[in-house]
Amino acid sequence: MKKSKLTILGGGSTYTLGILMSLIEESNHLPLSEITLYDTDISRQEKIGKAANILLKEHYPSLEKFEYTSNQSTAFKDADIIFVQIRTGGLLMRELDEQIPIQHGLVGQETCGGGGMSYGLRSIPDMLQLVEAIRSINKEAWILNYTNPAAIVGLALDKVFPDDNRLLNICDMPIAIMKSYADILDEDVWNLEADYFGLNHFGWFTKIQNKYGHDYTSELKHLIQNNDFKPTDKLIANDPSWQSTFKQAKQMVQDFEEYLPNTYLQYYLYPNQLSQKESANNTRARQVINGREKEVFNDCDTIIKQNNTENIDISGDIHGVYMIRIAASLVHHLKERFIIITRNEGIIPNLPSDALVEVPALLGRNGAEPFKVGEISTFYKGLLENQYAYEKLVLEAYFENDYNKLLQALVLNRTVIDTNKAKNVLSDLFEANKEYWPNLN
Ligand code: NAD
Ligand code: G6P
Ligand code: MN
Repeated sequence: MKKSKLTILGGGSTYTLGILMSLIEESNHLPLSEITLYDTDISRQEKIGKAANILLKEHYPSLEKFEYTSNQSTAFKDADIIFVQIRTGGLLMRELDEQIPIQHGLVGQETCGGGGMSYGLRSIPDMLQLVEAIRSINKEAWILNYTNPAAIVGLALDKVFPDDNRLLNICDMPIAIMKSYADILDEDVWNLEADYFGLNHFGWFTKIQNKYGHDYTSELKHLIQNNDFKPTDKLIANDPSWQSTFKQAKQMVQDFEEYLPNTYLQYYLYPNQLSQKESANNTRARQVINGREKEVFNDCDTIIKQNNTENIDISGDIHGVYMIRIAASLVHHLKERFIIITRNEGIIPNLPSDALVEVPALLGRNGAEPFKVGEISTFYKGLLENQYAYEKLVLEAYFENDYNKLLQALVLNRTVIDTNKAKNVLSDLFEANKEYWPNLN
């Protein structure tokens, strides 16, 4: 199999080390000749880069070259695959995105509601610049973007680069949920096949079967209604916040038993309950700063100090393996099935054609070939049209510099709804984001 060159943008991300471990584990699926990390924050990336040097030397002997850089030309030139995982404003701005809505009695979340809108307006300009810069240097690379909020970033990229079919937006939540399904069913996650529809962080599984056609959907609903549903992937299994999120699936399946929900629906279906659970001085961002971020950089310190990876768990995680298998399917034309984000264009005929939907698709050298979902029924159509209108208004506000459209977006958003709350939270988010948001009138 021909070896590929991979570049990871946001090399200093908390996910990079796990992706590198997953690349080691998946080196038969996606053999690589070179890995390059790129980040604008040199010192943050350096620690990951130094540890990666040791990890890869020890466990990826067939890799010919590894480097980390802040030079775009070095990073983008010749890459076959580019993963994009940046966070404009860092985890400290994420903390404000979450705190401000909580202070107004609303859900404070990275990608949902006011926080998601705030993050979206920060991510759009950086992502547009990055993709522009990549394409000025490299027209052919597969760009897999999972920078959040993927729904809004994806729409902005689709508007500015509508014909770029080597640019895909991806979320790991469906596969992380499927990993838990696989584990309660005692199946291998890669043997499961999902039917799924929705928008990013706003969708449902309609069917789960295995590769031999055994339909598990009813059994899964029963298992989830009668047991605690738990996160099981390495990255999230032991995290109390993810445990509580997965637990909420039970309530959702009891209340809406037609389909199996994405965990993110909890914020839209139970906004009051969720906002009451949150505390402004310990939002998810703070937990990540004290948790995943610390652990990753501690592991780096240990690896650098020891000059080897002894006593470090170097197994891959579902997030990394998912991105890698997607890349392998594209590069090697495997036409395997993955849930990805793509322009609707009739996949769900009774939703707007320009919405970005999250659905299963076959991935090969021509990009994504999504499966048709067909018409959806009133409840789901109502929810998705409403959420898409919110997303579209955020996008219009950005490109038209229109403050009022942000207010409309928040009033539509199921986590906000109330106009007075929307006005107040918007004004605080605007103040906090002066350095990042576009000019708005
Ligand atoms: P992080 O802050 O730890 O890492 C982001 C890195 O990006 C930092 O090292 C930062 O210096 C770098 N960066 C910021 N702006 C940059 C730019 N313009 N160019 C190059 N590098 C830049 O964040 P994290 O928690 O590791 O998450 C990384 C991203 O991945 C976030 O956007 C997060 O929401 C996203 N994510 C998405 C999914 C998904 O399902 N789509 C899953 C996991 C993480
Ligand atoms: C899932 C979602 C991502 C999101 C992440 C947040 O993986 O699919 O889109 O960024 O969760 O996780 P965290 O642990 O940072 O709260
Ligand atoms: Mn996601």
